[in-house]
Amino acid sequence: MLGQLLALLSDGRFHSGDELGEALGVSRAAVWKHMKKLDELDIPYSSVKGKGYRLHDAIELLDKEGIQESMTQRLDCLDILLDVDSTNTWLFERAPDHLGKRYAVLAEKQNSGRGRRGRHWVSPFGKNIYLSYLVTLPGSLNDQEGLSLMIAIAVERALARLGMDGVGLKWPNDVYLDGRKVAGILLEGRQTQPDFCQIVIGIGLNVALSDRDAERIEQPWAALKQYLPGVSRNQVASVLLDQLGSILDEFKREGFGPWINHWAERDIYYKKDVILSGGSEPRIGVAKGVNRKGELLLHTDRGMEVIVAGELSVRPVN
Ligand code: BTN
Repeated sequence: MLGQLLALLSDGRFHSGDELGEALGVSRAAVWKHMKKLDELDIPYSSVKGKGYRLHDAIELLDKEGIQESMTQRLDCLDILLDVDSTNTWLFERAPDHLGKRYAVLAEKQNSGRGRRGRHWVSPFGKNIYLSYLVTLPGSLNDQEGLSLMIAIAVERALARLGMDGVGLKWPNDVYLDGRKVAGILLEGRQTQPDFCQIVIGIGLNVALSDRDAERIEQPWAALKQYLPGVSRNQVASVLLDQLGSILDEFKREGFGPWINHWAERDIYYKKDVILSGGSEPRIGVAKGVNRKGELLLHTDRGMEVIVAGELSVRPVN
């Protein structure tokens, strides 16, 4: 019911309680009750006597059939949720029942979206992409070297497909537009049998994030609509799901190795002075790209050091 009500209101125009009630087959009072649920989802709307209800911003709701119809790659299961704590947590809990399956979930809103290094991921309703994608891969969790970088490349390729030029990558797996972060990736895995593991690939991609939504973000951020104002969230979702499907096939065939140069060409800190933090002590050096395992090569005064992703992050030396 809530989904149907949102679909009716998604144009951002006024709709009277009578009109909505008729379309939904319920009373005006029931419409009013459902409108209260929009408060719980933090969806701003107005209610004006004699006019009805109107969302402050028109919303393009995610459309499962539309996304599936535009896709070309294999996906066994796709779910779309109105709101959820975290799509990664939701899918991880269901992973044991879906061994061998490619299963994706998208949400309109996350109440506790999770980022790397224990950070919160800002996830307001109907604005961005919050996607988790479950895949089963041969080998142990430790064998999946470079996977998170490949996922960043899948996002970068999806953005290029949508018409974005100059998409940047930041080790280990952030995606940048003009020096500002547009997408982040959080991988979580479980070993199922000695020779197979399941990975939940979480991707947050800002599409229509506003200044108000972004107040809590502590770093420069970008949103796709700042560059491609007419971009459709459903189109972004289907292109991204396709790119994930194909890059996972490529990763299974050849691993990260063939992508080293592709990474270097888009690496925003390549050959730059950087500080690496998050470890026991910050390290300063020149970023020299990545190796076949997706590890960072950092040229410091001690020589070439190989940095494993873990919970580290890099930033430029100013
Ligand atoms: C980062 O810190 O850069 C990673 C952000 C990952 C956010 C996505 S949104 C979908 C999925 N569900 C989550 O709770 N987190 C990931």
